[in-house]
Amino acid sequence: MTTPERTPLHLTRRPRRARTTAAMRSLTAETELRPRNLIQVLFVRDGIQEPQPIASMPGQFQHTMTTVLDEVQKAIDAGVACIDLFGVPRDEDKDESGSAAWASDGVLNRAIAAIREKFGDQIVIMADTCLDEFTSHGHCGPLTEDPFGNTVVDNDASVAAYCAMALAQAQAGAHVVSPSGMMDGQVAAIRATLDEAGFQDVAIMAYSAKYASAFFGPFRDAVGSSLQGDRKSYQQDPGNGREGVLEAHLDIEEGADFVMVKPAMAYLDVVRQVADFSPVLVAAYQVSGEYAMIEAAAANGWVDRERIVLESLTGIKRAGADMILTYYATEVAGWLN
Ligand code: PBG
Repeated sequence: MTTPERTPLHLTRRPRRARTTAAMRSLTAETELRPRNLIQVLFVRDGIQEPQPIASMPGQFQHTMTTVLDEVQKAIDAGVACIDLFGVPRDEDKDESGSAAWASDGVLNRAIAAIREKFGDQIVIMADTCLDEFTSHGHCGPLTEDPFGNTVVDNDASVAAYCAMALAQAQAGAHVVSPSGMMDGQVAAIRATLDEAGFQDVAIMAYSAKYASAFFGPFRDAVGSSLQGDRKSYQQDPGNGREGVLEAHLDIEEGADFVMVKPAMAYLDVVRQVADFSPVLVAAYQVSGEYAMIEAAAANGWVDRERIVLESLTGIKRAGADMILTYYATEVAGWLN
């Protein structure tokens, strides 16, 4: 076989010029991750003496009241500007209504108070505002019967509970509450409750477009979820993009300070659509399943862990996310520094 003859092309544009050297690539880079745009997600569990590894999320732990403080310190040292806290109660503290969520001595509220007391305003303390970790049935709100005798999650009773929970979180010292239960009207009701109680300065990160996703699988281990069944009657169908945009519009009208799309990787088009119109900052959540898939492939030597983590986060940023919630925040911030 003869090698095809090389004919010089006469091109007006050769995009490769922008890629010739490391300095040129640095000059022309469009998207940059920064530690301060990453939000470290942390779990704190009641009644344990040692941090418990989460099997489906290698490298992540359910923390004790003490070790969670160490994690917050590490995040601050790395330049991360926000942590997002989830509480894991003892089984005996779960009930039908999820009342440990708004008890001032509930695990999440105690952890918020301890972190606020130790770190003050050095880092933004965001708390998850949802009942699923606290209910005995694992749903994001209390159950009721519809007129035909079917068991359903009661939207309006859930919103009332979220208001009580948000208030308890604000009283404990949260700077941001983050309703993640996908109940209609939750943002407006929480805003009114916080304002009424004098917490005008506590912000709301709305989980606006949240999909009924298999990517949440490992999280259910992480919080010891009691869920039977699924969340399809309140979380969105994965195929629905317009509806995600509608949800973000509603939350902005209701007073959300930030809107979020979740999961991130399989929903980057939704992130982009929301980012294109949103007058408030947009967040995306790289969820447990995204983390678990990267870790599993990396552990097998099938992908380069550090490169794929950075690429996954860069893609989320490029899609339009101003902030990214991720289990990698502190680690990645360390790499970036
Ligand atoms: C529920 C909640 C979930 C996650 C955050 N908040 C799970 C669910 O909706 O079932 C998932 C986070 C993750 O997968 O990393 N309020």
